[in-house]
Amino acid sequence: MLKWNLPTLLSRLYLHIIFLLGSMCLTCSDRTPEQLAAIMKCSKHERHTRNYDYMEGGDVRIRQLFSRTQWFLTIDDHGNINGTQDPTNCYSILEIRTVSEGGVLAIKGVKSQYYISMNKSGVLQGKKTYNENCNFKEEFLENFFNAYSSAKWTKQNGTEMFIALNQNGRPLRGRKTKKENISSHFLPMYFSLNVIADA
Ligand SMILES: *[C@@H]1O[C@H](CO)[C@@H](O)[C@H](O)[C@H]1NC(C)=O
Ligand SMILES: *[C@@H]1O[C@H](CO)[C@@H](O)[C@H](O)[C@H]1NC(C)=O
Ligand SMILES: *[C@@H]1O[C@H](CO)[C@@H](O)[C@H](O)[C@H]1NC(C)=O
Ligand SMILES: *[C@@H]1O[C@H](CO)[C@@H](O)[C@H](O)[C@H]1NC(C)=O
Repeated sequence: MLKWNLPTLLSRLYLHIIFLLGSMCLTCSDRTPEQLAAIMKCSKHERHTRNYDYMEGGDVRIRQLFSRTQWFLTIDDHGNINGTQDPTNCYSILEIRTVSEGGVLAIKGVKSQYYISMNKSGVLQGKKTYNENCNFKEEFLENFFNAYSSAKWTKQNGTEMFIALNQNGRPLRGRKTKKENISSHFLPMYFSLNVIADA
């Protein structure tokens, strides 16, 4: 049931690593204008977010969430949650902050500054203002994948509702999600904005 395509994933990881390594040497001349533009766009925003502290304390990680259905989770400037296959898409860079013990965290788009929230009906949306709907519980699965369930809302029968991207990169309604389904599985990927900003 939980089979996935290892070679495809590895090749994507490989591309991602190339991108990260590439980011470290902006002075290298073998970059395409598109790559440079993408990097500059992201790093510009990083300077902004450094002065923008909305919650005190808590462990903060900058990550991309890569779904087992092969999409990077994005939150755009309209608060839409979606998936992209472009690893340089700035809207896929997420700030993941620990809110409380037991793996409860808040996930915010670095560029859009929207938090991922899930309402009672299980609809995923970006929200400018943080509230309890933005709390998700991180659970560790096998093979380094994690699942993120709403810390506030469950289905009517009490089972968890997860952040999930289907095979087309579209978000699923919480009620349709299951922990066992690959749509709910994400690999948190390291994304060093500091490296980019300092380059
Ligand atoms: C979501 O992503 C898909 C696939 O990349 C794209 O076709 C669609 O227009 C996007 N939707 C929104 C609301 O951005
Ligand atoms: C959840 O959000 C969707 C989309 O905005 C909305 O249609 C629905 O009524 C909301 N559900 C609740 C319980 O607020
Ligand atoms: C809870 O409801 C969902 C559908 O909303 C269903 O898929 C799931 O099997 C149910 N779980 C239990 C334990 O009844
Ligand atoms: C996972 O969920 C999707 C969308 O709800 C469904 O089409 C698919 O059959 C599910 N896959 C498994 C293995 O349960």
